[in-house]
Amino acid sequence: METTKKLLVLFCLFFIINQAISESEHMETFCNKSSTSNNTAYNTNLNTLLSTLSNQSSSANYYNLTTGLASDKVHGMFLCIGDVNRTTCNACVKKATIEIAKNCTNHREAIIYYFSCMVRYSDKFFLSTLETKPNTFWSSTDPIPKSFGKFRQRLSDKMGEVIVRSSLLSSSVTPYYLQDTTRFDDHYDLESVVQCSPHLDPRNCTTCLKLAFQELTHCCGDQLWAFIFTPKCLVSFDTSNSSSNIIYFQRPKRSGSCSLKGNNKILGGMVLSVAASVFSLLSF
Ligand SMILES: *[C@@H]1O[C@H](CO)[C@@H](O)[C@H](O)[C@H]1NC(C)=O
Ligand SMILES: *[C@@H]1O[C@H](CO)[C@@H](O)[C@H](O)[C@H]1NC(C)=O
Ligand SMILES: *[C@@H]1O[C@H](CO)[C@@H](O)[C@H](O)[C@H]1NC(C)=O
Ligand SMILES: *[C@@H]1O[C@H](CO)[C@@H](O)[C@H](O)[C@H]1NC(C)=O
Ligand SMILES: *[C@@H]1O[C@H](CO)[C@@H](O)[C@H](O)[C@H]1NC(C)=O
Ligand SMILES: *[C@@H]1O[C@H](CO)[C@@H](O)[C@H](O)[C@H]1NC(C)=O
Ligand SMILES: *[C@@H]1O[C@H](CO)[C@@H](O)[C@H](O)[C@H]1NC(C)=O
Ligand SMILES: *[C@@H]1O[C@H](CO)[C@@H](O)[C@H](O)[C@H]1NC(C)=O
Repeated sequence: METTKKLLVLFCLFFIINQAISESEHMETFCNKSSTSNNTAYNTNLNTLLSTLSNQSSSANYYNLTTGLASDKVHGMFLCIGDVNRTTCNACVKKATIEIAKNCTNHREAIIYYFSCMVRYSDKFFLSTLETKPNTFWSSTDPIPKSFGKFRQRLSDKMGEVIVRSSLLSSSVTPYYLQDTTRFDDHYDLESVVQCSPHLDPRNCTTCLKLAFQELTHCCGDQLWAFIFTPKCLVSFDTSNSSSNIIYFQRPKRSGSCSLKGNNKILGGMVLSVAASVFSLLSF
């Protein structure tokens, strides 16, 4: 068996043992290796920033701020997924700020993804910039059944429509967040979820979602569910057979099938650290 297959099986065992992934489960952490410093002022500002983000997540679904002056400036933000409540958002961001501080010590730039939120900080202003990396994706290991028909085409058509609709939601309470469930052939439901960082303009949001979806279909378009988180947007789909009331996936809320993390390669100079504590898997 090749290594990836073995890992996959281990992953499955891991998730079965742990009753599958829960909502605020960790996806991936990226500490920018090529930007480090032991600057005390910067680290102090960073701690203030992370603490503020953590506090703000009890009252908002996203927040951005800048702390410090001149070369010691730190920019940061968090974003919770549109369908999580304040309690879950707060718990997720709290955990993320603690983990990112712990795992990315002395890095001037880092990003951490969970299934329910992301937290990021940098010495550069990044809010309205369109970026696609570093990203992370997870998917089901179960393929779409033949009975689903022309699934890829349907997924692509539906997601295209959802992406267009989401660009009209720049000023909603949870900007750009859109969830759609469509039933096909009276046989299965397709759930599509998209969301952009609120600081993107509608055009950049559309571009971000299209690129993310492209990557997602490339890796996981034939799986029962898949989820990609990029620095500026997220895309996920999930299928369920509601006639038998089986829910394969609800963005790991009640994951019914075992999942696989993709993307184990270095992106944009950042080092990837694989989450699942059983494997300390550093890929180069
Ligand atoms: C920062 O401090 C750590 C531990 O004290 C040390 O290993 C590292 O080389 C230092 N890095 C820089 C850029 O000074
Ligand atoms: C965040 O909240 C804690 C507890 O209420 C408080 O001690 C801390 O000063 C707050 N941090 C910031 C940056 O406001
Ligand atoms: C967040 O970013 C926006 C856009 O750059 C800016 O106008 C706003 O002042 C920032 N908010 C905070 C609290 O810094
Ligand atoms: C928030 O969502 C979580 C997970 O779905 C749920 O367990 C919790 O009861 C919810 N809390 C509130 C206050 O709605
Ligand atoms: C859209 O993204 C590009 C590339 O990051 C950026 O230069 C541009 O300012 C963004 N557009 C707006 C209106 O912010
Ligand atoms: C969906 O449920 C129906 C009724 O239980 C069953 O006949 C069908 O095979 C199921 N389809 C899939 C893809 O599991
Ligand atoms: C990492 O930091 C370096 C140096 O500041 C920068 O050139 C590079 O763009 C950063 N990489 C990412 C992915 O942000
Ligand atoms: C942080 O690093 C430790 C040790 O390298 C690792 O076990 C853990 O999974 C990492 N956690 C996160 C959230 O990156």
